[in-house]
Amino acid sequence: MDVKTIAVCGAGTMGAGIAQVAAAAGFRTLLFDASPAALEKGLAMVRKNLEQGVNKGKLSPEKMASTLLHLQTVSTVEACVADVVIEAIVEQVPAKTALFNGLSRVNGPDTIFATNTSSLSVSAIAAGMPHPERVAGMHFFNPAHLMQLVEIVRGRQTADAAFNTLFHLAKAMGKTPVSVKDSPGFIVNRVARHYYLEAMQVAAAGVADMAVIDRLLEAAGFRMGPFALMDLIGNDVNYAVTTSLYEAFNRAPRFQPGAMQADKVARGELGRKTGKGFYNY
Ligand SMILES: NC(=O)c1ccc[n+]([C@@H]2O[C@H](COP(=O)([O-])OP(=O)(O)OC[C@H]3O[C@@H](n4cnc5c(N)ncnc54)[C@H](O)[C@@H]3O)[C@@H](O)[C@H]2O)c1
Repeated sequence: MDVKTIAVCGAGTMGAGIAQVAAAAGFRTLLFDASPAALEKGLAMVRKNLEQGVNKGKLSPEKMASTLLHLQTVSTVEACVADVVIEAIVEQVPAKTALFNGLSRVNGPDTIFATNTSSLSVSAIAAGMPHPERVAGMHFFNPAHLMQLVEIVRGRQTADAAFNTLFHLAKAMGKTPVSVKDSPGFIVNRVARHYYLEAMQVAAAGVADMAVIDRLLEAAGFRMGPFALMDLIGNDVNYAVTTSLYEAFNRAPRFQPGAMQADKVARGELGRKTGKGFYNY
């Protein structure tokens, strides 16, 4: 399929970054959020990322200008008419299915619906739609404008044409797509779960405090320590992913969500996006 227009729904941490990548790759990009404040914040985030690129000499001012020209914010679902829709809203199946169904009503019969879910079943999201064959996973990593990997997830009913379009689209966005089966947490989030969970166990047992754990793991070669990374991802999002894997694996103790992170979520200390998480920002 010849993709010209991409609609990104949800302008939070991930949606803003995905929209930036799409616009930078030359696609006409529509960015939507149910919250006008979040939409404004998402656009500001794109500008800031681009400015940083220019200041570091990694991006020309012309490229920044053309990226912004390709990006348009929209304030209604009805305006999200596109060849490919990528959703990056709250990590809940009913919300994602409801959004896709609303988008189906305003889009044509060829539009492909991609979910950026980190852990939910793509097949379950698609099951609530009249055309599950046009639904697949397109899982970007945070920060989306910098991370190369994109997991392209084939749901039970995903058609080859939809899968192939998204696989090639990720390449056209300058990313490295990998094909994965629809399985809880796919590859990266399933394996990485223990990076976060074990670090919280170590801190809770008083073996070392979180800043020491972060410094040690960074010194050992990890790009970011687990606590700093949970703050970057968002404690609400990271906690939702762990809970989803825990349930999907029949409450296997190895995926039991961390009490330390539950406490952060209850306090609204979600990480960078709220100015406070495990650390202050
Ligand atoms: N944060 C990460 O590191 C990360 C990485 C990969 C994938 N994901 C996945 O991406 C998705 C979004 O995560 P995020 O971190 O960007 O979340 P976020 O909380 O930063 O942003 C979500 C945005 O969606 C908006 N929203 C919620 N419901 C909506 C609806 N029905 N219609 C339109 N907008 C709506 C909210 O206003 C908010 O701005 C989740 O599925 C998450 O699991 C997150």
